[in-house]
Amino acid sequence: MDWGLQNRISRIIKPHNNRALMLAVDHGYFLGPTEKLENPKKVIAPILKYCDSLMVTRGVQRTSVSAASDTPMVLRVSGGSSIIGDDLSQEDITVSIEEAIRLNASAVAMSIFVGSKYEYQTIVNLGKLVNQAEKYGIPVLAVTAVGKELGKDARYLSLACRVAAEQGAHIVKTYYCDNFEKVVQSCPVPIIVAGGKKIPERDALQLTYNSIKAGAVGVDMGRNIWQSEHPVAMIQAARSIIHNNASVDQAYALYKKLSGKDSNKSKKNPNQKKSNKPNNPNQKKSNKPNNPNQKKSNKPNNPNQKKSNKPQDTPKK
Ligand code: R5P
Repeated sequence: MDWGLQNRISRIIKPHNNRALMLAVDHGYFLGPTEKLENPKKVIAPILKYCDSLMVTRGVQRTSVSAASDTPMVLRVSGGSSIIGDDLSQEDITVSIEEAIRLNASAVAMSIFVGSKYEYQTIVNLGKLVNQAEKYGIPVLAVTAVGKELGKDARYLSLACRVAAEQGAHIVKTYYCDNFEKVVQSCPVPIIVAGGKKIPERDALQLTYNSIKAGAVGVDMGRNIWQSEHPVAMIQAARSIIHNNASVDQAYALYKKLSGKDSNKSKKNPNQKKSNKPNNPNQKKSNKPNNPNQKKSNKPNNPNQKKSNKPQDTPKK
């Protein structure tokens, strides 16, 4: 592998532990002002330093990320449809490789929609993007979505991931599912797990832990960080699992501590005012011993999945 390509991948997936924490803020490319991401600059600023890389569109990178930042950028270069349009799978490449270079992208990212109406177009586009990006030593991250009528399970996610890898994607992003080991084992390139819709913090940490345990190199998490009541605490908790091998209990304890929610420490905590706020209803669920993700594992992570004309990668506003 070319030195430049390997070097850029190493900025995203840390070589010392083969782990990655990506912060996803690219949702607006088809959702517009996503809930709690209405002002990307304000959202990104306090949490940027805790991620290994930022998944971003060029518009948000230019307007809402300081050019002085040394955080690697994973630049989304696909788009063309919106949440109110006919078919979200109708995407094309919208950002040139020269623009990605100008923006100093450490990787470019695009979606493929396997089993959807525009499957052919998006898969061919992935192959072409790999051709272009490899000329300049830029890795390609493929975001996998599967058609609406297909289950978001190991069978179809492994198919989508393998298709992406066969086209030359250097990193593949997909969703967590039961038997995720199968998805990882049949994909010859690193897999990163998307966070999906907002769930209680402990559940999102469990998802992170399960993903790593099943062999993913990390997570590319968006809504479960910046839609959290405490994004700074949440990203550090996720980071503790990915980079410090924290257990879910340890990570959630860290989340509570950092967010001022740890009642044992609230008297000594200068953030005591925050701890006196009414509890988040999600907290109650978080104390359950079982992993809710596992119970829900046969259900689609994303409510949009149920909508007949929307691909399963679709985040909900
Ligand atoms: C969707 O537009 C993007 O691919 C997101 O980067 C991806 O869905 C990860 O974000 P989240 O954790 O919110 O699902």
